[in-house]
Amino acid sequence: MNRIFFSVVFSLSFVPGAIAQKIESLTAGTKTSIRGMSVVNEKLVWVSGSGGTVGKSTDAGKTWKWIIVPGYEKREFRDIEAFDEKTAVVIAIAEPANILKTTDGGVTWKTVFADTTKGMFLDAMHFVDKKRGIVVGDPINDIVFLATTNDGGDHWEKYSKNISVAKGEAFFASSGTNILYHKDGSFDMVSGGTAARIISSTKASPIPLPLIQGKESTGANSIAGYKTHFAIVGGDFANDKDTTGNCVITANGMDTWVRPATPPHGYRSCIEYITEKRMITCGTSGVDISEDGGNNWKLITTEGFHVVQKAKKGNAVFLAGGGGRIARLIW
Ligand SMILES: *[C@@H]1O[C@H](CO)[C@@H](O)[C@H](O)[C@H]1NC(C)=O
Repeated sequence: MNRIFFSVVFSLSFVPGAIAQKIESLTAGTKTSIRGMSVVNEKLVWVSGSGGTVGKSTDAGKTWKWIIVPGYEKREFRDIEAFDEKTAVVIAIAEPANILKTTDGGVTWKTVFADTTKGMFLDAMHFVDKKRGIVVGDPINDIVFLATTNDGGDHWEKYSKNISVAKGEAFFASSGTNILYHKDGSFDMVSGGTAARIISSTKASPIPLPLIQGKESTGANSIAGYKTHFAIVGGDFANDKDTTGNCVITANGMDTWVRPATPPHGYRSCIEYITEKRMITCGTSGVDISEDGGNNWKLITTEGFHVVQKAKKGNAVFLAGGGGRIARLIW
């Protein structure tokens, strides 16, 4: 008896991958559909969602303060970037395209960008530091909308070059994570719809990805990087348990992408590196963890989430999704 017990404990503790990550649900106190998230450190989390709602927790998700931005009650904030307890930037869909900034913890919001062009739809933002950020919007007349800021979102300038995409190729606004801005000013973003490609400022033309594509609901949703490793998730959100072409990882730099041996278990809207090898991805049909840099994925819950983010400073990992669902990953 004792010997059996001992061997079971031994095998659970020492087999790689046997360490069980789990989701701890948090009480949010809102019904908003959350797609934007910015985890500043172990304690400070900002989220954004439907109904003009922004949420903030300063105690690692135990309690939340909810703000509805006046005039934005019928709008959705698909992405948020926060810098500290006082300062955050949100993007609002659809027309007019608006970017708002608060410097007083969400009490007041200033419109820092507005564009009334027909067809404007801001999808995602990414900042490399407290000053420099980029925002991507859906193509208008097949030209991608891009703008950058050098002053923490106070001013935005349209990107100087025209990047063309295919008819019906666009960007998902499912988790605010389909663009990566780099310290040298270059960027990479991933598309969906009629084509699923990676569009890099350093490359002459977009690179096709071995992801499911061709329908309005298919393609790449999210890109994440860790040193020289990159991973992209997506799939078909209209068929969210399908695992066909829902993930690719870099085999040899940004040019060559391969499908994992065991893909995530359905459509996934967001991916994040926790360490160089441990990764997490989430979507409406569940959450998966990889322990080997994205080659094999294990389903840890069928509970749906739209977005997962690791603290910019620290190890905390939070998830959020529909119906105001918020959780923390125990890892
Ligand atoms: C980009 O496209 C717009 C709209 O077609 C055009 O007005 C503008 O001159 C173009 N800019 C460049 C740098 O080609």
